[in-house]
Amino acid sequence: MIDSRDYEEFSRFLSDCCGLVLGDSRQYLVSSRLSRLLDEFGFQSVPDLLHAMRKAPNPRLRTRVIDAMTTNETSWFRDAFPFEILRHVLLPELAKKGASIKVWSAGCSSGQEAYSISMVVSEWEESRPARVVPVSILGTDLSEGILEEARRGVYDGLSIVRGLSEARRARYFETVADGHRVIPEVQRRCRFQKLNLVDSYTALGKFDLVFCRNVLIYFSAETKRQVFDGIARQMNPGGYLFLGASETAGPYSKAFETVRTEYGSILRLKS
Ligand SMILES: C[S@@+](CC[C@H](N)C(=O)[O-])C[C@H]1O[C@@H](n2cnc3c(N)ncnc32)[C@H](O)[C@@H]1O
Repeated sequence: MIDSRDYEEFSRFLSDCCGLVLGDSRQYLVSSRLSRLLDEFGFQSVPDLLHAMRKAPNPRLRTRVIDAMTTNETSWFRDAFPFEILRHVLLPELAKKGASIKVWSAGCSSGQEAYSISMVVSEWEESRPARVVPVSILGTDLSEGILEEARRGVYDGLSIVRGLSEARRARYFETVADGHRVIPEVQRRCRFQKLNLVDSYTALGKFDLVFCRNVLIYFSAETKRQVFDGIARQMNPGGYLFLGASETAGPYSKAFETVRTEYGSILRLKS
């Protein structure tokens, strides 16, 4: 069992290093998420592991603990409507404005969001728009392990069916020994990089479009305020921000306004 002092200390560690808020009495969650690491690193119990982390810094163990505690749930074309807005409203509008379009998938998990965006770009290009501009997509995440999956772009039979139509499955994947690999046409627009959203991200440059979906729900109000400020600073004038279906910016940031389209709503950086 994890006693309340260990639990409090572990909660503080997670919140300080990556903004994640565990909440009260979630000892069970901590035990179940860390159980595999106990065997791997030879600890008898979760308190043993926590005491070892306290006594001597071990960057590999620290990274693995953080990886184990993050929720990586994702799917292809999650919520559908953001990708409709992207295809029918944003790509045509942004292509008229600039020489290229830069997209950031912040908290990209295993890459489905970034690759879904890239598939939409392929379909937009095929529709012969008046002006095609190059689109680059940066996926960032805190978790090294999940980024490795994103970079490989190989998905098993279960994850390939979550959110993908049969037509897109047939068109955008090739079968490899251990699953289904995203084809180079889709992969070449995407790049993946480690980034902790509680750190500075000025080095990333500016984006026309940011997807930060189902990430901020795990953060405290104060961390949400800081992340919204940071994202706003990384956006080009008139840039757009997608949040998850249950997330809002209003209580934490005044930098954005809601724009309604026939496909749904999106946030735009105020001028
Ligand atoms: C639930 S997934 C959402 C994935 C995708 N955006 C979607 O909506 O399907 C949340 C992701 O945020 C990442 N994450 C959590 N805290 C983070 C932090 N402080 N910095 C960067 N990424 C973080 C997790 O590793 C996880 O992959």
